[in-house]
Amino acid sequence: MSKERLRAAVIGMRMGRGHATGYVNHPRTDLVAICDKDAGLLEERKKEFNVDRAVTDYKELLDAKDIDVVSVATPDYFHSEQSIAFMKAGKDVMCEKPLTLDVEEAKAIIKAVRETGRKFMVGQVCRYAPGFVLAKQMIERGEIGELFLAESEYAHTYRHARGVGDWRVDPRREPVIGGGCHAVDLLRWIAGDVEEVSAYANHKCLTDWPVNDCTIAALKFGKGVIGKVMVSIGCVRPYTMRSVFYGTEGTIVCDNTSPQIQLCSQKNQSGRPEFATFPVNIASHNVSAEIAEFVDCILGGKPVLTNEIEGAKTVATCVAVVESAQRGTPVKVTDLLGDAAAP
Ligand SMILES: NC(=O)c1ccc[n+]([C@@H]2O[C@H](COP(=O)([O-])OP(=O)(O)OC[C@H]3O[C@@H](n4cnc5c(N)ncnc54)[C@H](O)[C@@H]3O)[C@@H](O)[C@H]2O)c1
Repeated sequence: MSKERLRAAVIGMRMGRGHATGYVNHPRTDLVAICDKDAGLLEERKKEFNVDRAVTDYKELLDAKDIDVVSVATPDYFHSEQSIAFMKAGKDVMCEKPLTLDVEEAKAIIKAVRETGRKFMVGQVCRYAPGFVLAKQMIERGEIGELFLAESEYAHTYRHARGVGDWRVDPRREPVIGGGCHAVDLLRWIAGDVEEVSAYANHKCLTDWPVNDCTIAALKFGKGVIGKVMVSIGCVRPYTMRSVFYGTEGTIVCDNTSPQIQLCSQKNQSGRPEFATFPVNIASHNVSAEIAEFVDCILGGKPVLTNEIEGAKTVATCVAVVESAQRGTPVKVTDLLGDAAAP
């Protein structure tokens, strides 16, 4: 008999607060357990969400028979270990972005999904930002003709966003992978898989961090489409993911932090370029929409779009960017992932 409701747990209660809210507000889910290493925070969230079970070690939840789905919202280093453990324990898993920080761990998640048959979704939340959703719809409707150039950026400042215990300040956490995966995944969603990248990086803003803080990469997609991605975690400006999609008949300018998107198109009766703006909600962290989608996948049998393969391809593209900047040569994305992502 198919299930009517899902019982959820959330691990990591800072970003995970949005996941907990999503489960509490969804009509077909109940939040039954939460976990965080920080006992004080756990106590606060326990009261906030009125949940009985709150533990500091996720392993205490592995054998629980009354948990169907788990959100893993801990620092990136724990994503593969915890996601794989929960899938092996028979739970479906929603994992925060980035899927992992390297390709080997991404491959291990792909293997675990195949072996356990569990549903798995990576939280590439930009695919739920209303401005980006509208941009994709316009492109698919042909409103800018044929896409030839796609660009995005992840311009943020991490000066005061080092993570609890400074986990973001770690050589394993390349900004292109940790945060830049948002822009890379957005471009992959709109323009398709990236075949090859060529990148440059520098380190002038967060000089006390162990890695480059700014990277720019040229991207080669399929079908002759080219692109550009910029990632900075030290720049001094409000957070933006300004993205521009150029087609043969028009151009879209959009963002996840702007209340409108702009379209310039010559697909009209005059045949001359005309400008229009379209209002959109600003929802740069639309986690509730993500949760609702995953619930539909589990209960309604919909395929998971941001599955482990999509997550791994985004990780591999980001890793290729980092390697290209380090080596000073172009890097082929397919050389990194091999046939691990083949259906
Ligand atoms: N989708 C987005 O836009 C978005 C935004 C921010 C963060 N994130 C992702 O969410 C994850 C968490 O980021 P954050 O901003 O909440 O970090 P954070 O440092 O603010 O909080 C991490 C929390 O996890 C807890 N924790 C650490 N290790 C743990 C473990 N092994 N078991 C249980 N709890 C543990 C910490 O005590 C802390 O409360 C990261 O993967 C990050 O990349 C995604």
